[in-house]
Amino acid sequence: MSSDLEVTHTHPVPDPGIPEHVERWVDVDPDASRRAERQVAACFGAVPLLALGFIVVYFFMPKTWAVDFAGLHAQAQNLWLGLLGGVATLLVGIGAVQWARLIMGDHEISEERHPAGSTTADRDEALGEMNEGIAQSDLPRRKLIGTTLKIALPSLALPALIPLLDMGPWPGPGTIAATLAKTIWSEGVHLVTDVTYKRIKASDMAVGELVNGVPENIQDLNNDPAGRAVALAKAAIIVVRMDPATIKIPQSRKDWQVDGILCYSKICTHVGCPISLWEHQTHHLLCPCHQSTFDLGNSGVVVFGPAARSLPQLPITTDSQGYLVARSDFTVPVGPSYFERDSTHDYQNGDN
Ligand code: FES
Repeated sequence: MSSDLEVTHTHPVPDPGIPEHVERWVDVDPDASRRAERQVAACFGAVPLLALGFIVVYFFMPKTWAVDFAGLHAQAQNLWLGLLGGVATLLVGIGAVQWARLIMGDHEISEERHPAGSTTADRDEALGEMNEGIAQSDLPRRKLIGTTLKIALPSLALPALIPLLDMGPWPGPGTIAATLAKTIWSEGVHLVTDVTYKRIKASDMAVGELVNGVPENIQDLNNDPAGRAVALAKAAIIVVRMDPATIKIPQSRKDWQVDGILCYSKICTHVGCPISLWEHQTHHLLCPCHQSTFDLGNSGVVVFGPAARSLPQLPITTDSQGYLVARSDFTVPVGPSYFERDSTHDYQNGDN
């Protein structure tokens, strides 16, 4: 074997010692020290202004503004929110680093390695060092830094909290009744096919057929893409035709169907996937997400899977020309459950 690979170790490694201490320029020049203090304070002082800018952009910059730059196409509001929030966080970091480098005490300390125990003496020593560190941070004397930092850190919470408003309106009882619990279905609204918006004629539906549908008035929202998406997420339906002799129609729902044509929400009551896997012989509708299965021949009760509530049924009838129309909105909120939801009106297996 070549001896080139042999390495000679000496144990223990000699203590290299601490290099000679070099004074920082801020320690020898009072003007430089004040300049450093002002730099740090400027970093912290700019943070509330940026946080304020973030809030102004959030509330007042139109969401339709866009930025096109070097192949980048982005919503201007998102770009500015990111820039302002990011620069504010960066300035807190830069200010803290400069504070530690230039202003805090510059005393070098060497510490012997020792077993990691927590004796009383160690704890007292650690406490003493911490107090010494606090003293060396010079906060009691550098009031400007302390004050600006106290304003800077809480002000960063605002950019973090304000975007929570995008999660939707505050869910008080009135808001729930007007939003989550309501869809754009109402009496007389025609059932139309998804995408092509053709009215659905009862006599055109064959037994065993399933049609994906929407309310005709969804088209009124074509110029409001966000509002349309929200409305559609709640109002999507499936319409199925079954042989009335093979299904259970409770007394309370006998006027909700037309010769075995029934209409249900397309939104799974588990966590809201759209459903339309229909097995017409068993009348079962299967959700592809977690396999909840609903019996459309028995008012949409759950026969399998994690969903806890029956599929909401839309009461329907026909207009004078035989086209299907809603009798009303859904009688219970569609989609997944939420904490405040009242489940007393949900259909239970065996209800009449
Ligand atoms: S969303 Fe339908 S089973 Fe989970």
